[in-house]
Amino acid sequence: DKAGHKHFMAKEIAEQPTVIGNALANYLTADGHIALPDPGVDFTAIDRLTLVACGTAYYACLTAKYWFEQIARIPVEVDVASEFRYREPPIPDRTLALFVSQSGETADTLAALRYCEGKAARILSVVNVPESSIARESDLALPIHAGIEVGVASTKAFTCQLTVLLMLALKAASDRGTLSEEALADHVSALRSLPALMTTALEQNKAMQNTARRLSEARDVLFLGRGLMYPLALEGALKLKEISYIHAEAYASGELKHGPIALIDKHVPVVVMAPRDTLFDKTVSNMQEVMARKGKVVLISDAAGLEEANEGVWASICMPTVHNAVAPILYALPAQLLAYHTAVAKGTDVDQPRNLAKSVTVE
Ligand code: M6R
Repeated sequence: DKAGHKHFMAKEIAEQPTVIGNALANYLTADGHIALPDPGVDFTAIDRLTLVACGTAYYACLTAKYWFEQIARIPVEVDVASEFRYREPPIPDRTLALFVSQSGETADTLAALRYCEGKAARILSVVNVPESSIARESDLALPIHAGIEVGVASTKAFTCQLTVLLMLALKAASDRGTLSEEALADHVSALRSLPALMTTALEQNKAMQNTARRLSEARDVLFLGRGLMYPLALEGALKLKEISYIHAEAYASGELKHGPIALIDKHVPVVVMAPRDTLFDKTVSNMQEVMARKGKVVLISDAAGLEEANEGVWASICMPTVHNAVAPILYALPAQLLAYHTAVAKGTDVDQPRNLAKSVTVE
């Protein structure tokens, strides 16, 4: 049932304020602490984290690396499951291995999990299907509470994965004493503000549709971001190529002049994800290098960011102002909607793109 939407993907994008609210309600206590299902995790017994997944779930892991390292001061390694499983990496003592999968049935992710059995101190998973193989074979499975996701392009599962991973990083920080009570409360209130901010962001639908119409003419699209916006740029590029079949690549903004800038000319739209945070000025200077080469910049920022840097851009999308740590969860929405409307403008099969399966149970 598409609940009045043209596609499951549109429905699932629109559901995000609600499902994020559900995910938060399942992990946050009334007094603002994070409660994990039994038997929980004691992060003082953990020295490092290995995060493994495929596709969009892998980008959720890349985002989580920034959170765990910055907030909980735990060294993190992230890998795609198909590489991890055959590389046979050494797993040091006191490693927590964490697998992220919407379906819980992805063959490579499951194989990577089995490789860690008997080697990692604990095996955790973040899944949408609690009765899945990956959930059953973990010491502890954390459900994301996204509800069934039908569209092949993952949307609400991604933002719910991010939300659960951020809460897990906050739990790690509170176990390890790396965050003051005040900073913890600050992060929790930022999380609680997300459903309302997402609703506001979804009101920008028309602006995204207009920009997407112009994007649909492009042959190649680049996505740029720094810090927490870098994994999100990767996710935006994956979403776009997956459903619109437009070639899209993402780069960390700082990598631009190490090669990709050679691609820029007046035909190439460049989507820049840049909330007005501490890295903003650096990203803007990369953006200006793109404009100097006639690249068409689509700037996704907040009111303060757009006021400062909107001049000369090809299109802009205004997001509500948001706490830095939760920004990737909010900025996932314009990434999804740009891809969605571009695909609709191109007339592709949005919910069932060519050559793809919802769950990749063979390698
Ligand atoms: O079910 P999983 O989360 O393990 O699936 C992983 C990927 O196959 C999946 O995220 C894929 O990249 C999506 N189609 C992306 O939209």
